[in-house]
Amino acid sequence: MTKKDRSYLQTLKVAHEPIVMLTCYDFPTAVLQEQAGVDVIFVGDSVGTNLLGYTSEREVTVDDMVHHLRAVRRAVSDAYLLVDMPFESFETADLALRNARRLLDEGADGVKLEGGQERAAVVRALTDTGIDVCGHIGFTPQTLGSKGRVQGKSFEQAKVLLQSALTLQDAGALMLVLELVTEDLSRLISERLRIPTIGIGSGRFCDGQVLVITDVLGISPFTRKIAKRYQEYQGLTLEAIRRYSDEVRNHLFPTEDNAFPTNPEDLARAEDWLRVSQEPS
Ligand code: KIV
Repeated sequence: MTKKDRSYLQTLKVAHEPIVMLTCYDFPTAVLQEQAGVDVIFVGDSVGTNLLGYTSEREVTVDDMVHHLRAVRRAVSDAYLLVDMPFESFETADLALRNARRLLDEGADGVKLEGGQERAAVVRALTDTGIDVCGHIGFTPQTLGSKGRVQGKSFEQAKVLLQSALTLQDAGALMLVLELVTEDLSRLISERLRIPTIGIGSGRFCDGQVLVITDVLGISPFTRKIAKRYQEYQGLTLEAIRRYSDEVRNHLFPTEDNAFPTNPEDLARAEDWLRVSQEPS
């Protein structure tokens, strides 16, 4: 069985083996995620705020997603390649089908879309045609904006989330992202569903975890409570850029080792030619 098989993630859930998912937006990072054996490489619409300088996920277009999906796809062979459907790209079943097919044609194995039970008909329309869909409930940035708030603290919220989780599963979803859902409710949902849950900021008991790669690498200027910096990219990169600038300004880079010589005889001929061509006729 390969990671791309529909039953692979299900098998991990049943075996209580945590699923590793990570966002990815570019080719070199995808190469490393493959090497590290990440299960699900995910081109998230967080590319907009994290890489493209947008102020909101809502600015991300299908063309943006295709551009980054193509780069990531060139590096991915083993992992399951999931891609986000951006804001307003799945308002109706027809629109969702058209956009999802485009993303699949560009090499995605499945699509993720935000929303609870109100999206069940769209999810069903996709899964009926054999398209893998990952749901996404809890905090949904496309509709709730950039201020992350924990979901599921009250009975009313918990009920809506539970209903959504069950409805999306019934609509044929392959897996479900739980974002900023309380740990207790995430545990309840994960235990109740047959399909895997993937948590972000939702505690320890989901079937898998997803983080945003820029948080993991320390590219983000701040650390969020729900994430962990495994690398100090910001500081290291700033230091590298400063050292490069200093070396160029102080004639320390490039050195002879970074340069290519011309054959000495050809160089002499070129110098002669230049001299002759510049003499007044
Ligand atoms: O786009 C994104 O980063 C997400 C997160 C839930 C991982 O959707």
